[in-house]
Amino acid sequence: MATTEVLISPEQLRASQRAERIPDPCVVVIFGASGDLTKRKLLPALFHLEQSGLLPEKFAVVGVARRPLGDSFAADMRDGILNGGGVEAGDPKLEAFVRKISYHAMNFDDHDGYIALKKMLDSVDQQYGTNGGRLYYLATAPDYFAEIIHQLGEHGMAKPEKNWVRVIVEKPFGHDLQSARALNDDVNQVFEEEQIFRIDHYLGKETVQNILVFRFANGIFEPVWNRNYIDHVQITAAEDIGIEGRGPFYEGAGALRDVMQNHVMELLSFVAMEPPSSFEANSIRTEKLKVWRAVEPIPLEDTVRGQYGPGVMGGVAVKGYREEDRVNPNSLTETYAALRLRIENWRWAGVPFYLRAGKRLGKRSTEITVQFKQPPMHLFTNDKNSPCGVIEPNIISMRIQPDEGIALRFAAKVPGPSMSSCPVNMNFNYKDAFGVSSANGYERLLLDAMLGDATLFAHRDGVEATWSLMTPILQAWASHPPRDFPNYAAGSWGPASSDVFLSRDGHFWRNS
Ligand code: BG6
Repeated sequence: MATTEVLISPEQLRASQRAERIPDPCVVVIFGASGDLTKRKLLPALFHLEQSGLLPEKFAVVGVARRPLGDSFAADMRDGILNGGGVEAGDPKLEAFVRKISYHAMNFDDHDGYIALKKMLDSVDQQYGTNGGRLYYLATAPDYFAEIIHQLGEHGMAKPEKNWVRVIVEKPFGHDLQSARALNDDVNQVFEEEQIFRIDHYLGKETVQNILVFRFANGIFEPVWNRNYIDHVQITAAEDIGIEGRGPFYEGAGALRDVMQNHVMELLSFVAMEPPSSFEANSIRTEKLKVWRAVEPIPLEDTVRGQYGPGVMGGVAVKGYREEDRVNPNSLTETYAALRLRIENWRWAGVPFYLRAGKRLGKRSTEITVQFKQPPMHLFTNDKNSPCGVIEPNIISMRIQPDEGIALRFAAKVPGPSMSSCPVNMNFNYKDAFGVSSANGYERLLLDAMLGDATLFAHRDGVEATWSLMTPILQAWASHPPRDFPNYAAGSWGPASSDVFLSRDGHFWRNS
């Protein structure tokens, strides 16, 4: 297998990772800080930024949640950072960072709690020199988003005074079109649009940003990136994990809301968008929006839903979804969703896009597969003795995770007297090429929010456009309850019915 060779020195690589700009002094205020996200993702990401010299010197973190955690919060965050790796216990940089973490206990609807929080943030400003810079991060259950936003407005905490004030809103942003609109209205009443950062951590992944670099920084791919050369596109977001103890959340969500409306739709927009006029928030958002708005309404027969039953994964017996903790034993929530859609514009008319996302599938793999049309005639016919059977089409696979990279599959002549061929892969692997593994996505996005760069965040119109596509499917599914759940075994590749619309078109899912 051929691999890529990176053509820059380690010094050049390090230089390219240096910040062009360090954010202004600020306090990151995390609402819902006692949850898993803060410990597993947000604090490790902030500390990695600190290690890379990308945080301002005058900086602090304040966790806000209901439980009276006191000083144990900072200690717990230290554990989270250590578990994230890349640092040893007792590292002076880590200890200095942990000293900048404090905690405030309050109920999110408690008027007095916000008065006390405001006072506390003023004293944090005094102590750390953060000068009124605020990045609020809403990491609570979504039911609290509107309340917190409203209270921040009521208490004069949303308007920039000495320095900027911004808010990051975690997903899920609404649970259908109507609720997403209502939440947008609530947020826009208190914050200006340029203060709002709707996060989708997929956009922070190097491999996702690399879709744009691959397409628009190279001259050779874009000319063939259209209906004339591409047969179809597959986007897979397969997870081997189950719902990880999040029963109550997942019962109200399901695969379509949890992953398809956001992560998969973002991948679709990057693969399908027109070249933006610049890499800047408004240009990117405009092009993404054009893609989602060009998607034809998706009929029920172009959708598949599934739910995992018990199975065996890696030799270990695994529970079915209905047996998971705090899940209804008769639950109709889908843990798998697949869609066929069409983007009716000049570039993509007639090219099917197949999308799927699911839990407890055979393997963790997020991947985009672009399958090209066959050559107009077969000059070389593999005969029965050919080791590889019929000639396969060219394929570009963009591996988003975990094996980050890109492969180009093409036919090569098998050595010997016959003209038979076998498919071979030209493979680029991030880790081999650059010697570093990618960050968790949150690092880049937290840094961008502190810098006020919204390029990799969702915009109001975009969120509503993707919900406009998903909501009719949710409604159709609700009025046609599934009769066959559970319909796939944990560890398999999803329900058999998900192969149907591909095979109808003469295709099959490519499971790497
Ligand atoms: C989250 C979903 O947004 O993304 C989870 O709520 C899912 O259910 C996760 O597991 C997947 O993220 P990643 O980065 O692990 O692919």
